[in-house]
Amino acid sequence: MTMRTQVVIIGGGPSGLLLSQLLDRKGIDSIVLERKTKEYVLSRIRAGVLETGTVGLMRQADVSERMDKECLLHDSTVISHGDEQFSVNFKELTGSHVVVYGQTELTRDLYAAREEMGGQLIYNVENVTINDAKTDKPYVTYDVDGSENRIDCDYIAGCDGFHGVSRQAIPHSVRREVEKVYPFGWLGILSETPPAHEELIYASSDRGFALCSMRNANLSRYYIQCSLTDNPDDWSDEAFWQELKRRIPADVAHNMTTGPSIEKSIAPLRSFVCEPMRWGRLFLCGDAAHIVPPTGAKGLNTAASDIHYLYNGLVQFYQAGNSEGLDQYSEKALARVWKAERFSWWMTNLLHRFPDQSEFDLKMQLAEIAFLKSNREAQSVMAQNYVGLPY
Ligand code: APR
Ligand code: PHB
Repeated sequence: MTMRTQVVIIGGGPSGLLLSQLLDRKGIDSIVLERKTKEYVLSRIRAGVLETGTVGLMRQADVSERMDKECLLHDSTVISHGDEQFSVNFKELTGSHVVVYGQTELTRDLYAAREEMGGQLIYNVENVTINDAKTDKPYVTYDVDGSENRIDCDYIAGCDGFHGVSRQAIPHSVRREVEKVYPFGWLGILSETPPAHEELIYASSDRGFALCSMRNANLSRYYIQCSLTDNPDDWSDEAFWQELKRRIPADVAHNMTTGPSIEKSIAPLRSFVCEPMRWGRLFLCGDAAHIVPPTGAKGLNTAASDIHYLYNGLVQFYQAGNSEGLDQYSEKALARVWKAERFSWWMTNLLHRFPDQSEFDLKMQLAEIAFLKSNREAQSVMAQNYVGLPY
């Protein structure tokens, strides 16, 4: 079968769905091609902190109703080292805040909106191939249920995550990939228990990093830094809670409620950027172009800023015939991506224990935490980055 649309979107994760929904609001047609099923995509548990810019895009896309009702506004976060803790007050330092709402729920809302608006989503696609991206007549081919299909289009958005095909379509001679792999992972659990604290706690300790996060009043998300050779099955719930409690302030550990985990997994930590983010009529967005370690909660938020730039460029093109926004896409998106990379790298370095860390390195970390604790300007720098840099 051969079809035609304005924008082919490869990948039905949050990036692809948000773009398709925003474009639809402006009367621009797209088709989303997803390798898996909706159920599979919605079974992935991801981070849960949204910048106000991300929330703004969800509102612009007209999919914020449930989020606006159920989300939690966070005006500050806690940093701890051993039993010492302090708050970084975003509200006071920046006038802004962050919103806690699970990425899985956000993706669920986007799927519901796309279905309600009759959006074209094709699941279980295989062998997606990008063709003639350097010409004015690009097209995408794919197989579904054993039949070959082709979609002619104006533009292609590569929203297919880190393991997708879009980035690979950019020739090696053009593509630069910059990467840093960290020598540890995060073991995360979800449990139907009230959160340990009203704010998130980013905890540095002699035994490694830990994070107390949440989804709602009776659903908590916790992480502990672990070895890359660890297997989640070797961590009993009991062992997890015990280790977590040793890394967070004693009063929080003492008062927290524990319970059975309903999900347990290990995620490796990496920083990765692909440059450029555009090749001819192909535009990379989100995890297809960059990965951040989760420490600054920037993964989804950086994907959302890419979508902001691409969406505005496409609207400018279709409404005014002006390709300036599209021409500037890679440069603008990358400028913000690199700042998110820097912040995530800084927070990761500040709070984790590194296997080859010298005594000097450790002293530097402790001095930096002490400086952050006592210095308003240092907190302000952190707060501005955490709530999200302007688009
Ligand atoms: N063809 C079609 N779809 C594909 C292909 C392919 N060849 N390869 C991957 N996909 C799909 C995946 O199944 C997935 O549903 O693309 C989607 C990509 O979604 P995500 O990996 O969630 O990436 P993105 O939408 O950019 O979201 C970024 O998710 O990974 C987190 O930290 C990240 O929060 C950030 C957000
Ligand atoms: C989460 O709630 O899953 C979460 C929160 C903050 C982070 C990372 C993950 O920095």
